[in-house]
Amino acid sequence: MAVPVAPQPGGELERIEIELLLEGIERHYGFDFRGYALGSLRRRLWRMAAEENVESISGLQEKVLHDPAAMERLLSGLSVNVTSMFRDPTFFVAFREQVIPLLRTYPFIRVWNAGCSTGEETFSFAILLEEEGLYERSRIYATDFNADVLSRARAGEFGLDRMQEYTQNYQQAGGTREFSAYYSVESGHAKLDDRLTEHVVFAQHNLASDRSFNEFNVVLCRNVLIYFGRDLQRRVHRLFYDSLARFGVLGLGQKETLRFTDLEDRYEELDPREKLYRRVD
Ligand SMILES: C[S@@+](CC[C@H](N)C(=O)[O-])C[C@H]1O[C@@H](n2cnc3c(N)ncnc32)[C@H](O)[C@@H]1O
Repeated sequence: MAVPVAPQPGGELERIEIELLLEGIERHYGFDFRGYALGSLRRRLWRMAAEENVESISGLQEKVLHDPAAMERLLSGLSVNVTSMFRDPTFFVAFREQVIPLLRTYPFIRVWNAGCSTGEETFSFAILLEEEGLYERSRIYATDFNADVLSRARAGEFGLDRMQEYTQNYQQAGGTREFSAYYSVESGHAKLDDRLTEHVVFAQHNLASDRSFNEFNVVLCRNVLIYFGRDLQRRVHRLFYDSLARFGVLGLGQKETLRFTDLEDRYEELDPREKLYRRVD
């Protein structure tokens, strides 16, 4: 009788198990991870398997398909939510210098912040637009596929332990006021000024499976595509292109690029170092 053999990490059997798991999740829960970059996905799935006390990816599949709470945990494990206010401050400096003058010419500004996580990036842009006198005529649509991070974002509350780091980022990002003017300290956390949430709409949207939902002057999607495989990146770039008005601006994360897409020549580079592009076609 054949003795079952544990799959070789990274081997053919493991790949089959991962594909079946992702297929099952997509069909049963509608979350599509099939186009994610395999390396980091694999690491996270094994970590999750250990936490769930199962010995194989198939064991994880059995658990996740039969237990919605395990699916919730898997969703949190697979979506990396690391973020901060004014993350990569030089990006915001470039945005102020290169993009704000373009936006001044618009009567109304629609921004899509895709993959917004717990809202730090979204509120950083709200502050920047406010300081440039453009917030009143802006609407920021901030989306993520993870409902849990969105409800934390809607609360507009942040840990006091990170305020020193955020203040430094804000100053390096070219902030023109005292950062502390944007929040008050309430029962152990920093509560953002209500004004900053007034023109922000948080909503669930899955970049892998949902469509475009508006036409935008700015699309910001930083540190999200890095987790996607090439094909999914191409599809999402097409979604962004279709969602941008002509001369609209696309902002990506430091390790992300328009290269390898067939859309590179539809954009001009506003600031290649800071990954700011403008749709020209
Ligand atoms: C590392 S965080 C980046 C947050 C923020 N953009 C920043 O740069 O600080 C990545 C976010 O992308 C979200 N995400 C991952 N896959 C997604 C998808 N298919 N659709 C929408 N959001 C997704 C995750 O839930 C997570 O909140």
